Amino acid sequence: MTDQTPSDRATMPAAHNPVIERRTVNNANRNLLKYLRPGISVLDVGCGSGAITRSIAEKVGVEGRVLGIDPNAKLIEQARQHTDGSGLDFQLGDVYTFDTDERFDLVTCARTLQWLANPKAALINMKRLLKPGGFLAILDFNHEKIHWEPEPPHTMKQFYAAFLKWRQDAGFDNAIADHLAELMEAVGLIDIRVEDQSELSKKLLPTFAVDSRLWAEVAELRGPQLVESGYITDEQRLQAIVDYDTWIATVGESMTVYMLAVEGRQPEEQ
Ligand SMILES: C[S@@+](CC[C@H](N)C(=O)[O-])C[C@H]1O[C@@H](n2cnc3c(N)ncnc32)[C@H](O)[C@@H]1O
Repeated sequence: MTDQTPSDRATMPAAHNPVIERRTVNNANRNLLKYLRPGISVLDVGCGSGAITRSIAEKVGVEGRVLGIDPNAKLIEQARQHTDGSGLDFQLGDVYTFDTDERFDLVTCARTLQWLANPKAALINMKRLLKPGGFLAILDFNHEKIHWEPEPPHTMKQFYAAFLKWRQDAGFDNAIADHLAELMEAVGLIDIRVEDQSELSKKLLPTFAVDSRLWAEVAELRGPQLVESGYITDEQRLQAIVDYDTWIATVGESMTVYMLAVEGRQPEEQ
């Protein structure tokens, strides 16, 4: 096995962009809709190539302010290609250490704490960047609660189990969604609310083939990292992709990815 730090494992392969590029607030972060109104300020932590961040900026308008941060220089470079000098901006930044004099009405962090070995430290820093009364909105997975109908091929289940083990060994919490409410309370946020944001994809929907293929894409794009670290062989990885694509095209009926939006408020007085 080769040594990989948690940060190496959290690094998103550049070719991963198709997955995050098709996301918008409406289709992939709809828990934010209730907060977004013209003129507010928003910090998007772990913004990737900025697809969701751009749609946040459309909703807060030119009088609003939106900043996306991510430690991945390639993704920030891609995100910046779409900025136009309005209130939307992207910066290199790590959730643990990012600092600025700005304070935000809303700090959002989607699908990112799943990649962090110390989510509590991340929450403490994000809370610090809120205005009094501002909201922190986290969206994340419990990977242990994914559900397929019927069961996917055993080769894909084997790949998926290796993926979860590889993540766990790096210190990442595969069930982070179900631990967020407790963590947010522990860091001093109030009025914590939890919304089920699980994503169900059914064969009858035109997007089923694309949505359910997520795990074939993970095997294609992240899989080589697992092979390199000795969690699975390349033959097993490639077979999982072939078998899973066949499952999608034939017997596969549905996939539910378990996600929660967990949100809290900064007290007015600290
Ligand atoms: C799965 S992507 C999510 C992108 C976007 N938020 C979305 O929901 O589509 C996870 C992002 O977290 C970023 N990330 C990883 N470690 C981070 C850290 N320490 N601080 C901030 N972002 C981090 C990655 O670079 C990647 O862009």
